[in-house]
Amino acid sequence: MKLLSVASEIYPLIKTGGLADVVGALPGALAGHDVETRTLVPGYPSVLSKLGKAKAVRRYEKLFGAPATVLAGKVGDLDLLVLDVPDFFAREGGPYGDHGGNDWGDNWRRFAALARVGADIAAEGVKGWVPDIVHVHDWQAAMTAAYMRFGPAHAVPRIVTIHNLAFQGRFGPEIFGQLGLPPEAWGMDGVEYYGGTGFLKAGLVSADAITTVSPTYAEEIRSPVHGMGLDGLINGRSDKLHGILNGVDTDIWNPAEDELIARRFSARALSGRSANRRALEKRFGLQRDEAPIFVIISRLTWQKGMDLMMGAIDHLVGLGAKLAVLGSGDHALEGGFLAAADRHRGRVGVQIGYDEPLSHLLQAGGDAILVPSRFEPCGLTQLYGLRYGCVPVVARVGGLADTVIDANEAAVSAGVATGIQFAGDDPLALHGAIARTVRLHGEPEAWQAMQRAGMRADFSWTHSAARYAALYRSLLGREAA
Ligand code: ADP
Ligand code: GLC
Repeated sequence: MKLLSVASEIYPLIKTGGLADVVGALPGALAGHDVETRTLVPGYPSVLSKLGKAKAVRRYEKLFGAPATVLAGKVGDLDLLVLDVPDFFAREGGPYGDHGGNDWGDNWRRFAALARVGADIAAEGVKGWVPDIVHVHDWQAAMTAAYMRFGPAHAVPRIVTIHNLAFQGRFGPEIFGQLGLPPEAWGMDGVEYYGGTGFLKAGLVSADAITTVSPTYAEEIRSPVHGMGLDGLINGRSDKLHGILNGVDTDIWNPAEDELIARRFSARALSGRSANRRALEKRFGLQRDEAPIFVIISRLTWQKGMDLMMGAIDHLVGLGAKLAVLGSGDHALEGGFLAAADRHRGRVGVQIGYDEPLSHLLQAGGDAILVPSRFEPCGLTQLYGLRYGCVPVVARVGGLADTVIDANEAAVSAGVATGIQFAGDDPLALHGAIARTVRLHGEPEAWQAMQRAGMRADFSWTHSAARYAALYRSLLGREAA
């Protein structure tokens, strides 16, 4: 089966978060299910520079007013179709905005262009390669489904995956006339959303199937608390909604073979972690002792509960523990974490920025990874923590609830506990969870049993890729899902 995937990020070419990890890992995981994937992504500078040799396979004299080319090439095992539109994508800054964190004013045009080309490829293919099915991710690609529905590719099955309902791609009503959609595409059952234009909304009403990245988040988004205004629509289409958990790309996240860490290790040889611990202490200016090291690898935002976390730092240090933070995001939060590091020299270390290799060292050398999110569609850092013996301490929401087994008394004595869960959005619960973690760390046998149980848990893509493949087949009428 031939699958066209459309997304705005793909690891290792362009990444701001977990979306890139998933879009980069799925093609390899699906290959074992007889699914041949080509992924359409925007030609950002970092993508073009890594693309190497590529062939022009489609050209547009004017795509939303700009000349455009689709390039076909390979990076590693990834088969890519890259939408090269210098007017839209050849910019300094991030994929969605400038260095100052301001969104590009023409994002609607940039991502409508991506979607339009996705739909054109669905209809006409490229050089004889015509997809049987189209799978698009998040608001930046969601309009592909709308263009398909209202265009010649309407018979090709289309799937929209929600990675985060908080980002919806909402624009004014005035852009509708420029999208190149027929008038009937405007309206409740189309791209109109609370009087404006909604890209994710348009994708959700146009999809043959909607997936999201964990079973619990699939339930949560049906309620007003997590539905972010789309719960009504999602409830109306709940027969088409599937919660499929993300997996871990075990080629990239494997402590026994990881070249980005100081010493490799496995569940059987956990002692190898101590060299990583020392390297981590050094990198973050932490005192060298046996106190538990908590780590954070995160966007520093409200979603991730980082304001709550900042309020818990004095408590954490008061319990004798240490903290290493790698992250970037809200400037106020960045400043707050840096101030905490100043206040607690040697006990709290903070690196503001994005550093992929350092994130591996944190997982390999830290004792526990804190993920106090207010909502979390899936979350990947807790999964990487599980694989690396860095025990996850997580809010009981979304994918965090689905992937960590809380170390309550029964779970500990049964040997199945893999981490600590607590009630999200509650400062006292976070304090309690940190204290519970420090106590458990003081019982080496129970702690190591927990590390090993986590390392042995299977969060590879095996199961989830099979579920996606079954869903594709059911949409094609080839087999039941
Ligand atoms: P989200 O996509 O909501 O940010 P996820 O947990 O799904 O959350 O994915 C985050 C991804 O980004 C993980 O691969 C994580 O390791 C990585 N990451 C987040 N912040 C940083 C950072 N500052 N440096 C390096 N990697 C980071
Ligand atoms: C989003 C979500 C995160 C999820 C990731 C990949 O960024 O915030 O929870 O893991 O997408 O699906």
